[in-house]
Amino acid sequence: MKLLLTVCLTCTLLYTAESLRCHVCDNDLCTNSTSVECPATSIVCKTVTSVTVTNTIVNLSVNKNCSSLVSCFTPLLIETEWSVNRGFKKEAHTQFCCVTDNCNFQTLAIPNPSENGKQCPSCASSADSLAGTCNATLSCAGVEDSCFNGTTTSNSKEVLELGCVSRNLCTLQVAHEALFGSNATIVCGAPWSVRISAALLTLALTAHKVLV
Ligand SMILES: *[C@@H]1O[C@H](CO)[C@@H](O)[C@H](O)[C@H]1NC(C)=O
Ligand SMILES: *[C@@H]1O[C@H](CO)[C@@H](O)[C@H](O)[C@H]1NC(C)=O
Ligand SMILES: *[C@@H]1O[C@H](CO)[C@@H](O)[C@H](O)[C@H]1NC(C)=O
Ligand SMILES: *[C@@H]1O[C@H](CO)[C@@H](O)[C@H](O)[C@H]1NC(C)=O
Ligand SMILES: *[C@@H]1O[C@H](CO)[C@@H](O)[C@H](O)[C@H]1NC(C)=O
Ligand SMILES: *[C@@H]1O[C@H](CO)[C@@H](O)[C@H](O)[C@H]1NC(C)=O
Repeated sequence: MKLLLTVCLTCTLLYTAESLRCHVCDNDLCTNSTSVECPATSIVCKTVTSVTVTNTIVNLSVNKNCSSLVSCFTPLLIETEWSVNRGFKKEAHTQFCCVTDNCNFQTLAIPNPSENGKQCPSCASSADSLAGTCNATLSCAGVEDSCFNGTTTSNSKEVLELGCVSRNLCTLQVAHEALFGSNATIVCGAPWSVRISAALLTLALTAHKVLV
């Protein structure tokens, strides 16, 4: 019995000490990948298909790699699209994070590029962004369901940031920092959250009535 316990305990220790394996791409479109052992700090495998647009130049890329939990800010095991669109500069991603060996084998679909009818104030160029003289209107696309505005700092100068964003990034401080830098003060517009909180309030009142 004691031996069995010892053996089991050893198994458990070995199991937890063993590191995760993930696919890592050989090139920017991931036409080939290899399975690697992740460093101990990486407890997540990630696969992401990204489209960046800089002054109308489009770049498609696929990345698969090990990741820390914090750098995967979308929910585990749920394929999620997220996007930030400043007009002159945009990035959209389809992402999946998972926690078992080589679970990031899939190459995900390109994020939805079609305009969705929502429009937001934006900056026509990075020069306008730097000067704070933004007066453009941007048509949002795909999952971009909210407007954002705020500032970042670049070389200790304030930069105006305006555009479309997917709401799933709005409350994530880690995502803000990763996308806009540590000094960013980015606020998502509230045209849709009004409706959401009204619905929540109704629900809460109903629940209250039922409970009382
Ligand atoms: C993919 O990568 C593996 C390991 O680097 C290599 O052995 C294999 O030949 C590659 N396949 C293709 C189609 O490039
Ligand atoms: C496209 O994106 C990939 C991945 O981020 C990058 O390595 C590559 O240099 C980019 N290509 C161009 C033309 O910008
Ligand atoms: C994978 O992630 C590691 C650690 O973050 C990094 O050093 C490496 O360059 C990445 N590889 C690719 C192909 O992105
Ligand atoms: C934005 O302002 C610039 C300079 O004042 C002007 O030339 C341009 O027509 C304006 N654009 C819009 C969309 O109002
Ligand atoms: C950002 O949005 C807030 C709230 O709608 C508004 O008061 C503020 O003037 C906006 N800032 C800019 C720079 O557009
Ligand atoms: C953040 O703001 C501080 C103080 O305003 C400044 O010293 C620092 O350079 C800024 N950091 C970045 C990344 O711009």
